[in-house]
Amino acid sequence: MRGIITDPQAPGGLRLASDLPEPDPAPGEVLVGVRAFSINAGEIILIDQRPDGWRPGQDTAGVVLRAAADGTGPPAGTPVVAYPEWHGWAERIAVPSNWVAAVPPGISPAEAATLPVAGLTALRALRTGGAILGRNVLITGATGGVGQFAVQLAVASGARVTAQVGRPARKDEARLLGAHQAVVSLDELSPDDGPFHLVLDAVGGPQLIQVIRRLAPGASVVLYGGLGGGTDDFRLRDFYQAGAFNARVIAFISTIPDETKGEDLAILARLMADGRLRPQIGWTADWTRTADALAAMARREFPGKAVLTIPG
Ligand SMILES: NC(=O)c1ccc[n+]([C@@H]2O[C@H](COP(=O)([O-])OP(=O)(O)OC[C@H]3O[C@@H](n4cnc5c(N)ncnc54)[C@H](OP(=O)(O)O)[C@@H]3O)[C@@H](O)[C@H]2O)c1
Repeated sequence: MRGIITDPQAPGGLRLASDLPEPDPAPGEVLVGVRAFSINAGEIILIDQRPDGWRPGQDTAGVVLRAAADGTGPPAGTPVVAYPEWHGWAERIAVPSNWVAAVPPGISPAEAATLPVAGLTALRALRTGGAILGRNVLITGATGGVGQFAVQLAVASGARVTAQVGRPARKDEARLLGAHQAVVSLDELSPDDGPFHLVLDAVGGPQLIQVIRRLAPGASVVLYGGLGGGTDDFRLRDFYQAGAFNARVIAFISTIPDETKGEDLAILARLMADGRLRPQIGWTADWTRTADALAAMARREFPGKAVLTIPG
């Protein structure tokens, strides 16, 4: 079977191997024929850290080739999106049936493959803010893989969304996703913007202090990435001076709880089918170009997600 493995001698540290063992599904696992997958920023780091034959890949979509032997999950022939822990960049994968969701008609494998890591991060991070109808929500990295979904889901939930983007050219893209306003630096915000009830933060770093100074009482900052580096200047008085009493910063991980990954993927797939979630695919090619996609992502060349397809 063919699949992508790490190889320090290969360009980009990845090689398409053709001698991988066929997956052997456990009783609670479905066998999925993968048609498309997307990549994530975290994989760039892991490929470097695990150079020797490791098999990356979480964001996958395709069709069920064999249903789970214990009767759970979708039957053979169902188009699905799946969120394995790793091993996803391969022709066939075995995945626990509760990490898989059926994909409604009208959604391509390429579109569905954008959902697992980025979609679950956005959905689950937004839930931590409770009801956001009419409330001010700040989303940093707003045209990135996670951010594009977070903006759309927050808008669909009735929030007034401020998007922070990485460069001026991305401001219009954020507005097209539904953001009320878009800024590059938080310095562009007026004193009347905010206070924010919820912040989804991919950046952290020194900017986190600026974020804290714009929080409402009881607000949540969901810190899910550290693109802006670290900070050693994080003080209680930053909260007090802003009136952000009882606000919290959450060290967020999207994969927990893992037993409801399939349930949440189903929610996202339905929203996509309803046209309320439009995946932004900024880069796409055949899977033989996976290393190129990762390099383009590291150079921040495209907005949204990169998707690789496996010809049938
Ligand atoms: N905790 C979790 O469970 C979890 C889950 C998913 C992702 N993550 C992490 O979250 C981060 C974002 O993931 P992603 O998939 O959305 O990445 P992505 O697709 O690369 O998007 C990152 C976004 O952040 C912007 N950006 C990059 N560096 C910035 C900086 N220093 N200041 C302001 N904006 C900056 C980029 O702007 P440009 O458009 O200008 O490039 C882009 O819009 C990554 O670090 C990833 O590893 C964590």
